[in-house]
Amino acid sequence: MRHGPPAANAPQGIAMFIRVLGSAAGGGFPQWNCNCTNCQAVRADEPGFLRRTQSSIAVSATGRRWTLVNASPDILQQFQAFPGSWPADGLRGCGVESVVLVDAQIDHTTGLYMLREKGSPWPIWTTDPVYEDLTRGNPILHLLEHYCGVDRQPIPDDGRHFHPQGAESLDWQALPLVSAAPPYSPHRGAPVPGDNVGLVIADPATGRRVFYAPGLAEIDEALFATMASSDCVMVDGTFWTDDEMIAMGLSKKRARDIGHLAQSGPGGMIEQLARLPRHVRRILIHINNTNPILDEGSTERAILTAAGIEVAYDGMEIEL
Ligand code: MLT
Ligand code: MN
Ligand code: ZN
Repeated sequence: MRHGPPAANAPQGIAMFIRVLGSAAGGGFPQWNCNCTNCQAVRADEPGFLRRTQSSIAVSATGRRWTLVNASPDILQQFQAFPGSWPADGLRGCGVESVVLVDAQIDHTTGLYMLREKGSPWPIWTTDPVYEDLTRGNPILHLLEHYCGVDRQPIPDDGRHFHPQGAESLDWQALPLVSAAPPYSPHRGAPVPGDNVGLVIADPATGRRVFYAPGLAEIDEALFATMASSDCVMVDGTFWTDDEMIAMGLSKKRARDIGHLAQSGPGGMIEQLARLPRHVRRILIHINNTNPILDEGSTERAILTAAGIEVAYDGMEIEL
């Protein structure tokens, strides 16, 4: 590799950096087998449509050392586009030092297979239910033992802080969410706390916090209070309407049934975000290819813009 050290000009000092590696929901944008008007438009490179890879972010306190949150099947492409991940010195290396998983979904975990060349076990932070799914229904963590190995790190289920390698100076906290375990999980129809968590990541030096939840079906008052005390929320942007997939003839399931709160309608994400204090930055992430907000010229996108809601894109950088 001829690349120089990563992020040599990265801003130093007290801050928190978030890099969106992938802003799409499972399937990506375009989705390989989808012929919806959005997927057609992005394939044709129509203006106002951006290609998107599957759901993942990286977090850093320095701009040099990073923690990966979720490992999408598109991870190799995402790392190629992300200098912060590139090896800095030595023959092998990576700017990303550990992985935190918010659930056991395929689009958040199968990228781990692509990271098997690491020379030492990957520190992988999961809740107990996610660990169970990833060692039974989808035993990826067992398979990795035949390659780099896994240094399993438990995400506390009682709200205690944890400190994943790469961004250990930040205070990380997991909140159980109402969403959904993956279709292969024994918990799919009988959810347990910890199947899905949202992350509160705070910089103790500045007090600034981000809330990250790419899959979120319900916002109760406790969760809303957490969002309201954040400086930035990055939340479920999967669907515009609860029956989006049904109306398009693509599925029999509502957004809510598969763990996602739609943006429009009573009690929807737009209404929820409107209740937040003005200073809170609002960003939708994990956007499904069917969602009309992916068309920058759509009326739905204009509604978001008028409401002060941003739509994440691959390569988006947030500094707090
Ligand atoms: C989801 O977010 O609901 C899942 O990732 C869907 C999927 O597995 O594609
Ligand atoms: Mn997903
Ligand atoms: Zn599509």
